[in-house]
Parts: sequence; C-alpha cells; structure tokens
Amino acid sequence: MKLVSIEAAVDFLQRDKVVAIPTETVYGLAANAFSETAVSRVFETKDRPSYNPLIVHIANYERLTDLVSFFPENAKILADKFWPGPLTLLLAKRDSVSDQITAGKPTVAIRMPSHPIAQDLLKKLDFPLVAPSANRFKHISPTKPSHVFDSLGAEVPIIDGGECKLGLESTIVGFDDQGRPVVYRQGTISLESLQEVLPETYLLHQSSSAEVSIVAPGMIKRHYAPNTPLKIVDSIEKHLEEFGSENKIGVIYPAHTKPHQLAAQTIALSRGGDLNEIAEKLYAAFHQLDKQNLDYLVIERFENIGLGRTLNDKITRASSED
Ligand code: TXA
Ligand code: MG
Repeated sequence: MKLVSIEAAVDFLQRDKVVAIPTETVYGLAANAFSETAVSRVFETKDRPSYNPLIVHIANYERLTDLVSFFPENAKILADKFWPGPLTLLLAKRDSVSDQITAGKPTVAIRMPSHPIAQDLLKKLDFPLVAPSANRFKHISPTKPSHVFDSLGAEVPIIDGGECKLGLESTIVGFDDQGRPVVYRQGTISLESLQEVLPETYLLHQSSSAEVSIVAPGMIKRHYAPNTPLKIVDSIEKHLEEFGSENKIGVIYPAHTKPHQLAAQTIALSRGGDLNEIAEKLYAAFHQLDKQNLDYLVIERFENIGLGRTLNDKITRASSED
C-alpha cells in the first residue's frame, strides 16, 4: 500500500495525478477538477463510464463562485445547516466546470467535506478536487485504506485517515423547477433531517434503473455491491435453519447477537443496534465477508425511517442483480 503524506499528496495532485483521500463519508479518489488530464485519470483508474458525473469538493465558500452560476435560497439554507459535512448539492454550473466532470449536465455536484485531512488538503491547493468514491465502478465504497488498496491496487497513493466516521456516501440533493429540494441519493443526512429544515423536500422517484440513469447515472440499481451475493431475508434465524446446512452463509446482524451454529461467518454491525454505528460499519462488513469465500450473505431490513431508510436503500442496491 502506498501511503503518502498530505504534502506528498499536494505534489501528486499538482502534477495531475490521482490520490485517494479520507473524507468523513468514504475515501475519495481525488484529482484536480480544473485539469482534463487529471480528471481523465480518475475515470481510467476507476473503470468508470464517462456518463457518470463527478462530485467537486471545496474547502469553503470562496471557491463556490468560480464553479456555480446560481446558488438558490434553498441551497443556502441546506448548506448553512449541513456544510461542511456529508451533503452534496446539485447546482447550475459555470463554464469553468468541464462537461467531462458533469457528463454534459448543466448542473455540477458540489460538496464541502468536514474531514480535517480533506479540509487541510483542499486549503493547500489552488484548485478544487473531483473525488468519486475510491473503488472500481459498481463496487462498494471504501471506508478505510485497505479497501482502497484491495479495489484499486498498489499504484494509487493513499492518505491514511483511518476509518471513515460516517461510512456511507454523502446525501445528494438537487432542486426542481419550483426550487424544492429533491434527494437524488440517500445518505447519513436522512430525508427526515432535511425535511426538518425544508419540509417540502422529497425523494427522487426511482421507478426503473433505465429511467433513473438519464436523471442521475450514479443511481443505477446495482451499486455499492459486494462480489458475494447479498440476500435480504425476513428472518435470519429461519433462513439459517432452512438453508444453513447446505450453504456457506455469512450473516450480518445489526447488533451483537450470539452466532447461530449454522452461520459460516457472523458480523455484528454495532453493540446495541445504534444506526449511526451500523452505517459506519456496513461497508466494512461487506468488504470483510467478501474475502471469506462464502456462498452468499444475509441481512434483515431496517425499520424504514430516518437513517434506517438510507440503510434499506443501500442494502437493496447491494442485493440487486443488475
Ligand atoms: O460521500 C461522497 O459523496 C463521496 C466522497 C468521496 O465525497 N463521493 C462519492 O462520489 O460518493 P461518487 O462519484 O462515487 O458518487 C457521486 C454521485 C454519482 O452517483 C453521480 O452520478 C452523482 O453523484 N452526480 C454527480 N454529479 C451529478 C449531477 N450533476 N447530477 C446528478 N447526479 C450527479
Ligand atoms: Mg461511488
């Protein structure tokens, strides 16, 4: 693993190279947003199709005016409350933002991360950073350096920031014709917490992956997926009793539970069922169980409210086959 200092990362980034960086959500694969060569390297390193746009990361508001032509009132209200932090806003772009970044869209995704290393790095640079999650396309986002290494290999320099505190990607919010906030991607800032600030906020309707791919390519159904199939079951106990003796099943429990004798592997995401802790550990559990040569993994659905709704969205995508 090629671990580098912030100073070395600055040097790489200034030379149009990519660097994996920690953020409070997941690790990002960062590159100079104003360099076509650097941005191309992000797509190549991830095997990411060019129709999937990137998020631009900024340290503070100073940079915003270079990037967006209009900052609507509702965007201000949300940014005031949640920036710096795990919120990405879709805003009308300026010409300075290339079509390569936005995949030809008129909007650019902007995020102001709160992680001290990301902040420090951004402040040392005189350009903003594009940073998609630092994993191969369609794979699970990395929440620690070893995940980046496993997915992208030894060539990619990584700034070691330990484990990401939140563990799920940022919540992405755009604005409709009436200026109402639309949640394009759920994250640790739940629908409910956005509605506390702006009650008219709603979830983008995702009826079919084909339809959604036109609005938000990254919302394709199979995303954040482990290689080992994931099944959502009504009852883990019942499932194990029925299928546990013929299959090597990895079990993901929300809270600490005595391992079932028919489970090949067991992971508890939290001690007592705390949703923030579950969110923090979910992807790490996928990464870990993926290495155990299991037939498949099982998990139960969460109560569909707040962060539980976000978690259900993530596990549904991870269990989806296309
Ligand atoms: O937490 C995060 O957001 C992490 C960290 C590294 O900041 N980044 C991240 O980036 O998750 P990525 O590229 O894995 O996901 C970005 C998502 C994609 O689903 C992409 O389609 C969507 O943002 N996106 C970017 N620009 C967009 C736009 N203009 N309109 C709609 N969706 C957009
Ligand atoms: Mg991603």
